Amino acid sequence: MSYRTQPKVELHTHLEGMAPPDFIRTLAGEKRRDLSPIFNTDGGYKFKDFGHFLTVYDEACTVLTGPEEFYRLTRAVLAESAFHGVIYTETFLSPDFCGGGDVAAWKDYLAAIAQAAADAQKEDGIVLKGIATAVRHHGQDACRKTAHCAAETAGDFLTGFGLAGAELEGRPADFSYSFDMAREAGLRLTAHAGEWGDPGRIRETLDALKVERLGHGIRAIEDAALTQRLADENITLEVCPGSNVVLRAVESWESHPIVRLRDAGVPVTISTDDPPFFHTTMTAEYEGLDRTFGWTEDDFRATNVTAARAAFCDEATREAILKQLEPAA
Ligand code: ADE
Ligand code: ZN
Repeated sequence: MSYRTQPKVELHTHLEGMAPPDFIRTLAGEKRRDLSPIFNTDGGYKFKDFGHFLTVYDEACTVLTGPEEFYRLTRAVLAESAFHGVIYTETFLSPDFCGGGDVAAWKDYLAAIAQAAADAQKEDGIVLKGIATAVRHHGQDACRKTAHCAAETAGDFLTGFGLAGAELEGRPADFSYSFDMAREAGLRLTAHAGEWGDPGRIRETLDALKVERLGHGIRAIEDAALTQRLADENITLEVCPGSNVVLRAVESWESHPIVRLRDAGVPVTISTDDPPFFHTTMTAEYEGLDRTFGWTEDDFRATNVTAARAAFCDEATREAILKQLEPAA
């Protein structure tokens, strides 16, 4: 069956990582930049492993400049998400790519992205919230600037703070100062951990950064006590199966631990991460889980309810989403 029209809640996307290759190629052409090395002959993004993916990602972002381009990008990606049934979504935004950590510039970019979200909500009926996100391999100084930008703009649209990038660079505690600043500003917290890092690193992330969600978190399955802790503490995993398969964080769909984590009581949700990079969509993720594990509409409804409960939004928005997820009478 096609799951395209089933209402969906998606918690883990990166705004720049959702940019279609044509969008980036066109900007490169306008700016007379040769970005051909980051594209395949079939037009898609080209990378050979996770480290190379991060380099290609950063390279693609160099042609995304100015609030107006981020407005257009946000409208384009939200229209695509809405087409795949997404009714509520959150996206990682990096001040590093939006003004280089300068607060005044970041405010302009954020205003454009928030305006695009408001316009998309009117036209496509999709709700977007932003998570300001530090990029580990850009260094701790950039991370502090990101936290400062985030703290200055926390509010109705910018509701979270996160950490992405090369997980194995440095230790989670290196980022405690930034997470403390974000928490004090009232932001909700998530961090990529356990995509590449072992259970020890996941524990350090929980202890040092006090996050309530984890980006990926899938390597928790290697440690029964940690898996139990995630269940007991209601730490929600933002699981991105298609991303994990393409980047080879797991060997195959069949070996993906999402079912084992769910069955152990860990709150799991489903997202696409950077869909054009991984040739995926929310519809394709659902089809993959149906094909591999026999998941049904009811399984997906349950993961969407889990996602709505863990969403970084106000209670009125949460209630409205939960209502839309109720089965038709
Ligand atoms: N940035 C964009 N996608 C990412 C991923 N899957 N892991 C870490 N950082 C990222
Ligand atoms: Zn991610």
